[in-house]
Amino acid sequence: MRLDVFTLVPHAYAWLTEQRPVASVLGGELELRLFNYRDTTPLRAGQVDDEPYGGGAGMVLRVDVVAAALEAAYGSDPPGPVIALTPKGRPLTQAVVEELAEEPCITLLSARFEGFDERIVEHLATDAISVGPYVLSNGDLPAMVILDSVARRLPGALAEGSGELESFSAELEGGLEYPHYTRPSDFRGWTVPEVLLSGDHGRIEAWRREMVT
Ligand SMILES: C[S@@+](CC[C@H](N)C(=O)[O-])C[C@H]1O[C@@H](n2cnc3c(N)ncnc32)[C@H](O)[C@@H]1O
Repeated sequence: MRLDVFTLVPHAYAWLTEQRPVASVLGGELELRLFNYRDTTPLRAGQVDDEPYGGGAGMVLRVDVVAAALEAAYGSDPPGPVIALTPKGRPLTQAVVEELAEEPCITLLSARFEGFDERIVEHLATDAISVGPYVLSNGDLPAMVILDSVARRLPGALAEGSGELESFSAELEGGLEYPHYTRPSDFRGWTVPEVLLSGDHGRIEAWRREMVT
């Protein structure tokens, strides 16, 4: 799949692209393109935002700037969903992640400051997603959340099997994963459940199913 991110800080994505699972699928199952609104802005001196009509604090990302960025990348026809990242969007859940991972091409629009001119969300975007009921300073952290969560659903991103039995997976019927333990088996008297040390795979499997919440 291809994931295009429109942002003011393309360099901020460098760390994530060096980490697994994103690094594992980049150049193969995943193509990531980062577009800087400033590179295509029709305004002078790299301007991308402006004061809000009606007054008030903060600057607003301009609709003509985002339209120019999308047109420069796609002409008049974006190849897939164009998703505005905004606290007002539909909540990001694992089901939404699975839905996005099926798309051949996704575009994410990040904003900063006071946010988008509403016409961007209404007319240029086809979808809007929120990563939670709280306000972040920019849409780049949400874009990275989507990038990471979608990347781990792509073939080859994870060690075989490790993505199947995860929290929210169909395999666990949407539940939260059972607890994990490793050595030492006793630390300060905090012991590992006896069943996990038993070597009885049937009992271990049954215990794990029971612990899914
Ligand atoms: C400071 S926020 C703007 C908040 C906006 N004025 C409001 O009250 O809803 C700047 C940008 O960060 C991004 N952002 C912040 N919180 C977000 C969230 N929970 N989910 C998705 N994007 C978010 C959006 O792109 C937003 O336009």
